[in-house]
Amino acid sequence: MRVPLLDLPSQYQQIQDQVEPVVLDVLRSGNYIMGEQVKLFELKAAEYLSVKHTISCANGSDALYISLLALDIKAGDEVITTPFTYIASSESIDQAGATPVFADIDLKTFNIDPKKLREKINSKTKAIIIVHLFGQCCPMDEILSIAQEYNLKIIEDTAQAFGATYSSLDSNNFNKAKAGTMGDIGTFSFYPTKNLSCAGDGGLICTNSDELAKRLRRIKAHGSERRYYHLELGVNSRLDEIQAAILSIKINLIDKWNKQRMINAELYFKELADLEAEGTIKLPEIADYSSHIFHQFSILVGTRLEDSSKLRDQLKEFLASHEIGSEIYYPVALHLQEVYKHFNYKPLDYPNARKASHSVLSIPVHPELNQEQILFVCKTIKDFFKQNKNVLEADNLTKSLSH
Ligand SMILES: Cc1ncc(COP(=O)(O)O)c(C=O)c1O
Repeated sequence: MRVPLLDLPSQYQQIQDQVEPVVLDVLRSGNYIMGEQVKLFELKAAEYLSVKHTISCANGSDALYISLLALDIKAGDEVITTPFTYIASSESIDQAGATPVFADIDLKTFNIDPKKLREKINSKTKAIIIVHLFGQCCPMDEILSIAQEYNLKIIEDTAQAFGATYSSLDSNNFNKAKAGTMGDIGTFSFYPTKNLSCAGDGGLICTNSDELAKRLRRIKAHGSERRYYHLELGVNSRLDEIQAAILSIKINLIDKWNKQRMINAELYFKELADLEAEGTIKLPEIADYSSHIFHQFSILVGTRLEDSSKLRDQLKEFLASHEIGSEIYYPVALHLQEVYKHFNYKPLDYPNARKASHSVLSIPVHPELNQEQILFVCKTIKDFFKQNKNVLEADNLTKSLSH
């Protein structure tokens, strides 16, 4: 049985009858850029997210960069973000000329830890890019109150959490909100691996501020509000009509697909509970303030080991030998990336991000999976640990001898 990490052909089959006529219409219309389809998708996304303004763009990385420019982030400023994310989250800060500053994650949720975030604030700090990683919201009550206290702007990188819902635990705050709509600006990616994806590249920015919306629209169009009249320097970042048409169809299905991801996750929780109970793996935790739409189902492997990366890599290979896809998001925490070596970070400057990068493995959870496939993944994982019992037992022995 083959269990791919992602099954886009199967997903496409479900929507083929809707997508092909609309895409053909676009092709025949000759109207490929900034037309009716883009307007329609922006409206649909604004309605879905319950947000005032949505501004489409070329991809999630541009969405972040444009957002930083709209917030006037520049050289000399510091922007705090997580060291456990895709490079785009921090790269945009450098692109804007500012300095990325990392604050470690909470290993339970993989998201930025508000306490660590607070420790990194100084007079140069201007903004925070939080990332709702793997499909679950960050603890927004705490993050919003820190931002208010220090007058910091918040960008929510929501590339991995389209449709996740945050429930405020603070009765003075809003009740429920969609990921991406709680800070000053939310950004999204529709790269094909994302839970809401197009057939190429695509991105979106959202905000409730009229002023920021105007600025974001201007910056994404070479700093112009009127063609050939440029008010400031900007970029060229456009979602095209074909991608927008596909996204307008897929957004109607996103709740159904997210729900199926959650159902798939439930089965993993049930089937892998024994392995978690014996401390062999750690299953993802769902925080009480957020829905988890399981953009990824990421387990931690052999967390009791000093360095679990070898065992984790062996599990990945074992799964591959049984035609089961899995991926390491992310094998190197950002503070240890070559590109940031000038900061001279030590591995243990961000111990949780480092630990996660050594132990994490994402297994298939996409909505096109069937029960049989999930059970096969669970059985294969259990078989692997039966064969590798000695590694974990040897570790227990070393620990008991050293006490
Ligand atoms: C957390 C995060 N931020 C930003 C991006 C960048 O999005 P894109 O690939 O569309 O530029 C991605 C995905 O690739 C991501 O996972």
